[in-house]
Amino acid sequence: MAITKIKEPAFHVTGETGWINDPNGLIYYNGKYHAFFQHYPHDTKWGPMHWGHVISDDLTNWSYLPVALTPGDDCDKNGCFSGSAIAYDGKLWLMYTGFIENQGGDSIRQVQCLAESEDGITFRKHGIVIGEELLPDGYAPCDFRDPKVWHHDGCFWCIVAARKIEGRGRILLYKSKDLFNWEFVNDLFGKDSAGTMIECPDYNEEAGYLLYCEQFQPSENGIHLNVHTCRWCIGKIDYSSGRFVEENRGIVDYGFDVYAPQSFADESLIIGWLNMWDRNVPSEKYGFAGMLTVPRKVYVKDGRLCQEPIVKCGEVQKQIDCGSIEDKATRGVITLNATNLESLTIRLRSDGTHYTDLTLNGGEWVFNRSKSGEKISGVEKDSDSVNGIRRMPFSENSEVTLTIVMDDFSVEIFEDGRSLTSTIYPPEDADGIEISVKAAKWHYERADVSLKA
Ligand code: FRU
Repeated sequence: MAITKIKEPAFHVTGETGWINDPNGLIYYNGKYHAFFQHYPHDTKWGPMHWGHVISDDLTNWSYLPVALTPGDDCDKNGCFSGSAIAYDGKLWLMYTGFIENQGGDSIRQVQCLAESEDGITFRKHGIVIGEELLPDGYAPCDFRDPKVWHHDGCFWCIVAARKIEGRGRILLYKSKDLFNWEFVNDLFGKDSAGTMIECPDYNEEAGYLLYCEQFQPSENGIHLNVHTCRWCIGKIDYSSGRFVEENRGIVDYGFDVYAPQSFADESLIIGWLNMWDRNVPSEKYGFAGMLTVPRKVYVKDGRLCQEPIVKCGEVQKQIDCGSIEDKATRGVITLNATNLESLTIRLRSDGTHYTDLTLNGGEWVFNRSKSGEKISGVEKDSDSVNGIRRMPFSENSEVTLTIVMDDFSVEIFEDGRSLTSTIYPPEDADGIEISVKAAKWHYERADVSLKA
């Protein structure tokens, strides 16, 4: 089927056409940032997974390269699922999951495969390197995916999401000297996750965090309203025992639409899928479904994972220091600095009938997309989800910096390292911005995003 993309966001990555989900193989290689992603070019629905590919010099302007991996070989007959990249021996290596459907259900096989490239554009597949025989007894070979590979102490290490037969999600650790021959080390936590299956584990040794997603995660005190959620765990892998030594945990994003965040190889910089499973995607009619978040610098502060957006800004278009704030824009980066903030309401992408709101309500930020535009519904049945609401804790800092990255189909909100990210599908000309703020002192600024022609 031929799909034509007739609209797209200005600076968020989408597929050249069709469907995308998880970011894969994020790496700085040969002087460029590379991002791959789960991709089905022939429809705006999930299908046999390819690896789409974009590159960038500045992490804001991305351009397409040819599809890097196409399914259909014996090792990845029905899909090239998620994975990661590593530079070694002057080459770029991709580790990914080969999906072999067989008769479906328990007969599905998911195996870890390797591909290499010298130019970073064309890849040669090497087939399976971690197959069913390297799965310890009692784990399900039909749910074994999303390898994340890194270097440590002269060895390659890799974590892969897995599941116990009759059980829930696990993360398995493997080790290799050459990327081809792997041995099983241990099950990182040695116990079941809360969600039914773990997906897309990610480990950043230097910054000291592990990320992973859980499918069908039960709600905990109202903070896991997304049925599919992403967690961070601060801590380190103890390589002698093969266990993760955890210090603290939390959720990666408080909004509706972040899944499968991954870090760049050897960099504390993540990108997530800016969408969510089990939702309708109104942009299908424009020939695309799914976007990637802007890259985010990640660090650990006071025992928690913090994120800051990386967007190359151009000219400042508006600055306001007192009175009410009224502005017009559909894209850009808004920064609001406030001293002793008492109250704040922000209305974005407004045409009077449609709008997206963020309100500071006591100890929390309340985001509301119920009037944003086209309806997005999911499987979540709690009242916040049904009413288009998501909440994020407020830092209560005396000096507050709120940053909002706004593009045609999304808003990414950051305060004190926390993020709240959601898709929105407003009318194209809904560009009103109205802010009312009560604070001892404040400063509003909106900058353009610096886009290459
Ligand atoms: C996560 C995921 C991965 C899998 C990929 C398939 O969103 O389900 O576990 O590899 O998507 O597209």
